[in-house]
Amino acid sequence: MAPGDDELLPIGNIAKRSGVNASALRYYESLGLIESVRSASGHRRYRRSALRRVAYIVFAQRLGFQLEEIAAQLEGLPKHHAPSGEEWSGLSKTWMARVDDRIQELTHLRKSLENCIGCGCLSMKVCHVFNQADYIGKQGAGPRLWLGDTLKAAED
Ligand code: FES
Repeated sequence: MAPGDDELLPIGNIAKRSGVNASALRYYESLGLIESVRSASGHRRYRRSALRRVAYIVFAQRLGFQLEEIAAQLEGLPKHHAPSGEEWSGLSKTWMARVDDRIQELTHLRKSLENCIGCGCLSMKVCHVFNQADYIGKQGAGPRLWLGDTLKAAED
């Protein structure tokens, strides 16, 4: 068979080409992110177009998207053949907003770190890195971090 969209590849081949291990590929498949067919011998076979989907998944994860978000993004794309360049391009535009958000978060973290350098107090009251926007204080009074599950169980 000539290489093309319909060429079916074994999981090891997809793993080697994508750099994603076989167990992760099976997990992606269980979430519906990629799809396989069974060979006559019962082994998984993936269409060549699965490679681009895996590349998309890996890249989107690096940008901080959760697998559930990625699944929603991939939902509109064809599973049985490679999406067009236009379809990929439209999809990757959603990445720009995420990149902007990450830049903003990291810029804020960098500013906060400047206050921490040489300090090391990790104070829950004054350290914006350790207790950003006093999120621990909003959970209630007392030593919330030390009590952990014990406190949570008592509140339920
Ligand atoms: S470690 Fe002291 S302010 Fe962050």
